[in-house]
Amino acid sequence: MRLAQATCPANITILPGKFQMSEVLVLYYSRNGKVAQLARLIARGIEEVPGMQARLRSVPPVAPLTESAAPPVPDEGAPYVEKQDLRECAGLVMGSPTRFGNMAAPLKHFLDSTGAEWASGALVGKPAGVFTSTSTMHGGQESTLLSMMLPLIHHGMLIVGIPFTEAALNRTQSGGSPYGASHVAGITGENPLSEDERTLARALGRRVAETCARLAGQ
Ligand SMILES: Cc1cc2nc3c(=O)[nH]c(=O)nc-3n(C[C@H](O)[C@H](O)[C@H](O)COP(=O)(O)O)c2cc1C
Repeated sequence: MRLAQATCPANITILPGKFQMSEVLVLYYSRNGKVAQLARLIARGIEEVPGMQARLRSVPPVAPLTESAAPPVPDEGAPYVEKQDLRECAGLVMGSPTRFGNMAAPLKHFLDSTGAEWASGALVGKPAGVFTSTSTMHGGQESTLLSMMLPLIHHGMLIVGIPFTEAALNRTQSGGSPYGASHVAGITGENPLSEDERTLARALGRRVAETCARLAGQ
């Protein structure tokens, strides 16, 4: 999958492994598809910035007794992330479902394997944003978003949020936060993404990509 060019449902091009510092890595875990929907909107926002592209990548699920519960290539969705993606990206937007007010284990499992990239400074000085989805309105979106920033700060990344100049942030009745993009899915995942949630996800992608472009002097 990584060697072949593929297109995700939002018509975002998933490039083959060639190196482009104009790519923002959208890295996520999603069990039931809500975080994946946010990821595609963020990717769209990134690609609204001239010269910038999104590289969508996911992480495999983990099993309690084994290192990995999945085959090396996913059956569907974004390819699994490789360490090279961290080195090659101009910036990162990272998403996870909320699990007990925190990120899900598969994403943490991947982050815990990035010691070499931490030591080499692969992400130092690169912009980063975060996103999540919860079942409930007060189920820990902000604690998840804030705690997802911590490993990125250790990696030396520059955290980018969503400013209140985004009108949707002032009027949203569900997800969307100054700390990052989010969605309130409902107990059975019955809620579609609201217009404001969609707008704010795109705004986050755009803002991270714009910051990357400015840092690169574009
Ligand atoms: C083990 C577990 C823990 C969860 N913890 C929370 C939580 O703390 N707060 C919340 O509102 N939802 C919680 N959820 C619900 C998920 O965050 C929610 O269904 C999310 O939209 C799933 O995203 P996905 O569709 O990308 O997998 C939890 C789900 C599971 C399976």
